Amino acid sequence: MPRILSGIKPTGRLHIGNYFGMMRPAIDWQNKGEALYFLADYHALTTVHDAAQLREATRRAALDFLACGLDPAKAVLFKQSDVPQVTELSWLLSVLTPMGLLERCHAYKDALAHGKAANHGLFAYPVLMAADILIYDSDIVPVGKDQKQHVEVTRDLAIKMNETFGKDLFRLPEPSILPDLATIPGLDGQKMSKSYNNTIELFLEEKALKKKIMGIITDSTPVETPKDPETSSIFGLYKLFASPDDVAKMEADFRNGGTGYGDFKKRLFAAIWDHFAPARARREEIERDPGYIDEVLRKGAARANELANVTLKRVRTAMGL
Ligand code: ADP
Ligand code: TRP
Repeated sequence: MPRILSGIKPTGRLHIGNYFGMMRPAIDWQNKGEALYFLADYHALTTVHDAAQLREATRRAALDFLACGLDPAKAVLFKQSDVPQVTELSWLLSVLTPMGLLERCHAYKDALAHGKAANHGLFAYPVLMAADILIYDSDIVPVGKDQKQHVEVTRDLAIKMNETFGKDLFRLPEPSILPDLATIPGLDGQKMSKSYNNTIELFLEEKALKKKIMGIITDSTPVETPKDPETSSIFGLYKLFASPDDVAKMEADFRNGGTGYGDFKKRLFAAIWDHFAPARARREEIERDPGYIDEVLRKGAARANELANVTLKRVRTAMGL
């Protein structure tokens, strides 16, 4: 049975890009092996420096994940910081991590390119992520496309460690990335991302969701003129939510002309709202039971600790500690 592992950073509210790129594939994997998912609060600390905000975002991410279908009877859900052993493993990996490897990683490069002051945590981010993956002997890592490089770094480090300290020290993980969902478009047509301020958050109130959708940027093509569905983020998003028949209908309406963007946006709103109806109901149910999330995270941490302790012991011994 494969071991499946993934994490998500609680740096704000989860959005539709996170949902299709990472959460839903992860939830599908829970039926195919031993799945472990965590809220990467150590990683979030590279950018979030407000304790209340981090706590709130972590809890909300757990709630959203559970509402979307993560089943604690099948998958282990925990907070990254409930397994502090990963920070020790991160150090142990770092002594074999070439500076050049980290200098090539995109999160750090992007920070520099945008003139942001990068901290050491951001620079060392991929090493901690490698520790997250390797400490649970993970086989498969379901992530969005932008995390592929980090899984490759993880493999590089595992190979180096195995060459240096024993060939069976670490299992080599594989990323799992769904090709047709590789990049979910945001409100402005770019990749949906918190950093671009173009997100549609999960579980928005009805009014707020409508406002967001109606605010999608469109060109000024008149109602009667045919439009290109392929370049439209309305159509790009609609394809994720609507039935094949409804998608075909919208596509034809784009190409034939005679329908305005406002109409397409209303259809998109309805499709998103309906899609999340069952998850919304589950979310309300979870919220009525205040102890539930804590209990799930406590049990998750216990299992994650068990696994992490075994690996860390093996690595410490192999390295001479
Ligand atoms: P953000 O770009 O909003 O900061 P994160 O980097 O925290 O999002 O991404 C968390 C997870 O969600 C990652 O696995 C990432 O690849 C996935 N993801 C985020 N945005 C998208 C998107 N627009 N399309 C597909 N996957 C995405
Ligand atoms: N870096 C990932 C992201 O930004 C989150 C993450 C941390 C992660 N550790 C991980 C994902 C280990 C997969 C496996 O989304």
